[in-house]
Amino acid sequence: MSKTGAFHTGGIAILDYGSQYTQLIARRLREQGIYSEIFAPNVAEAQLYASAPRGIILSGSPYSVYEEGAPTLPAYLLRNEQPMLGICYGMQLLAHHLGGSVGSAQQREYGAAQVQIVPCDLFRDLPERLEVWMSHADRIEALPKGWQAFGSTPNAPYAAMGDPTAKRYAVQFHPEVTHTPHGAAILRNFAVHICGCTPNWTPAAIIEESVAALRAQIGTERVILGLSGGVDSAVAAALLHQAVGDQLTCIFINTGLLRQGEPEQVVQTFQAHLRMQLVAADATETFFEALAGITDPEQKRVIIGEKFIRAFEAAARKLGTVKFLAQGTIYPDVIESGGGAGSAARSIKKHHNVGGLPADLGFALVEPLRYLFKDEVRRIGTALGLPDALVWRQPFPGPGLAVRCLGEVTFARVARLRAADAIVTDELGRADLLRGETSQAFAVLLPIRSVGVMGDGRTYQETIAVRAVRTDDFMTARWAQLPYEVLARISERIVNEVQGVNRVVYDITTKPPATIEWE
Ligand code: XMP
Repeated sequence: MSKTGAFHTGGIAILDYGSQYTQLIARRLREQGIYSEIFAPNVAEAQLYASAPRGIILSGSPYSVYEEGAPTLPAYLLRNEQPMLGICYGMQLLAHHLGGSVGSAQQREYGAAQVQIVPCDLFRDLPERLEVWMSHADRIEALPKGWQAFGSTPNAPYAAMGDPTAKRYAVQFHPEVTHTPHGAAILRNFAVHICGCTPNWTPAAIIEESVAALRAQIGTERVILGLSGGVDSAVAAALLHQAVGDQLTCIFINTGLLRQGEPEQVVQTFQAHLRMQLVAADATETFFEALAGITDPEQKRVIIGEKFIRAFEAAARKLGTVKFLAQGTIYPDVIESGGGAGSAARSIKKHHNVGGLPADLGFALVEPLRYLFKDEVRRIGTALGLPDALVWRQPFPGPGLAVRCLGEVTFARVARLRAADAIVTDELGRADLLRGETSQAFAVLLPIRSVGVMGDGRTYQETIAVRAVRTDDFMTARWAQLPYEVLARISERIVNEVQGVNRVVYDITTKPPATIEWE
């Protein structure tokens, strides 16, 4: 697959000026079947036009257009005649470059506002008063020549403006966030009615185009892929299998640190059900031997990372000559490692992805999901016949249960944790709390023993902490307000069914200041 952006054609190109919402613009469009790609604002002309976008969106930004070092508009954009939509900072950029004027609002406007609109293509079929989400300091004071006002709020006389002849529009508010209820319709109006895009970005199209691109890249060579038990590697495998069949061999390393039933499910799904070539290696002993006596979380990660690479290499070596290594990199990873102006600031915490593989193993890389958001990965996973239990699996750290087993990682303690974790998953699944209500929910085993009482005797056993959070981006998270009766069942079952645990606590801390995982 090309790395220059030439994938699906005829969509919308988004220039990322660093707004925290840029990815949402792309997602809102794609959810409506319109392909969109994100580029850095200094993108070369040839790269931007490689996928023949029909329109350009300029995102918001933490900058002000007058600030030193503020990212600017590529000169070629104004020479070309493509439709453009500026959002917030994007609006100010257009005004600034086209002869309008931008000034500071008396006060920063942040939050909900009502915009009185003037009917135009951008607001086609929408009510005349729109509820919108504002987040800006500067605002437009004078329109560029040839532009008209299409919307106002008490605080922003030009909350929306446009030059319909040139098919250029701009809005001060953020149509991409859910707090702007008609925002998706505004983006769709721009793409479909102003740019002439066809909403043809469907799971079937994604699969068809990915398969064609993968066949072109791989030819008759062989590919290996490491299955982790998670969604991304599973969908990458299914897609590759569709594209190149038995030229693909999947490698599954059982680290002994996976959740209950996971190793069996991987073998069942990929070997028995999908009939893929699968090499499954059980390296449990190697991992536990290496982890003996280690309690420092960072040291655990390093050991697991090294052992994983070695186990993977050993399994791969047995396969003979292989040219390609496939990885389940998805679009947000691509954007955050150098997409737009604000990407560095935005990737608050990057876990060294243990359980992943270094790029220098001597293979050429294939990244079948490189252009896809998580929800698209899930949708094509289902379309490719993967079971719901796999497609909707919650994220799980590369180093596995070792992260959630505080203190020493022994076989017995991990078994204890795994049993408790399975109860959490089981009870939340029964109450339909695993999809949406919680983004991640799991058990943590604490290296603390406390006194309890069981029958006539005293116990002195370990504690399980239950962690369940809701989050959109995993950078901030709220603890899930689980129903008491569900928490009660989880607690009762854990102390009754899991040997060595006499106490269960529920973690009621947000992130920040806590993290999602305990380590
Ligand atoms: P924290 O604990 O930092 O976690 O709030 C944020 C998200 O990252 C996941 N996580 C990992 N994912 N390898 C991964 O692939 C890792 O080493 C790792 N550590 C944490 C965590 O589960 C949460 O979703």
